[in-house]
Amino acid sequence: MNQSGKKSIISDKRLFSLKQLTGKIRLDSFFCQIEEYNEYLFHEAVKAQNDQMALTWLLCERSSGAVASYMSLIADAIKLSATEKELHKLEYPFKTVPAMKIAKLAVSASFQEKYSGIGSLMIDMAIQIAEACNEQYFACRFITVDADIEHNESVMNFYKKNGFLPNEETNNKRRKTISMRRDILFKA
Ligand SMILES: CC(C)(COP(=O)(O)OP(=O)(O)OC[C@H]1O[C@@H](n2cnc3c(N)ncnc32)[C@H](O)[C@@H]1OP(=O)(O)O)[C@@H](O)C(=O)NCCC(=O)NCCS
Repeated sequence: MNQSGKKSIISDKRLFSLKQLTGKIRLDSFFCQIEEYNEYLFHEAVKAQNDQMALTWLLCERSSGAVASYMSLIADAIKLSATEKELHKLEYPFKTVPAMKIAKLAVSASFQEKYSGIGSLMIDMAIQIAEACNEQYFACRFITVDADIEHNESVMNFYKKNGFLPNEETNNKRRKTISMRRDILFKA
């Protein structure tokens, strides 16, 4: 138990498994306080997957089948400034570098009340997926996310704690999201 009285998910990790979304998996136990994330999972994610626009992964509790968290992943490419390229030791003439984006990430409220670390575990799993791509299929140097500050101003801190940096060029105060990225090869 940590200070908040929650158990760390890491200690019970084996009680969960990561599954790819299919139309057959029951999703109705999932509930996120931000309705947009429920709407997406219940009504848009299967279509987006069939249209090859976003692939969704579910963290399911083995005993009940309940969905504790989900994330949708898409291919991405990001522009880095000269300073950023230097920081990441990227001496290439290309304007963009290959990446994978966490297009959606949400944890179900009932599991969030019980466990700490589910969101971070999902990020670790996204990194493992990117690493598997690097080993076998295609290169992917960064994990990116558009941190949803419209719904939760402090969410950037969650990503910062997980090694993400805000992009240099995203200081516009009217933005609903902040573009952030994490180098999966070197920590900047
Ligand atoms: C954001 C979200 C995925 C985080 O999941 P989680 O399981 O609560 O996160 P973790 O327990 O792994 O948190 C890791 C650290 O980040 C901190 N953190 C988590 N959410 C935070 C938030 N919204 N603001 C600030 N810090 C946060 C935690 O306190 C923890 O800090 P610690 O290591 O010092 O204790 C979850 O709150 C969620 O589903 N939010 C609603 C949907 C959403 O906003 N998704 C992100 C869209 S970009």
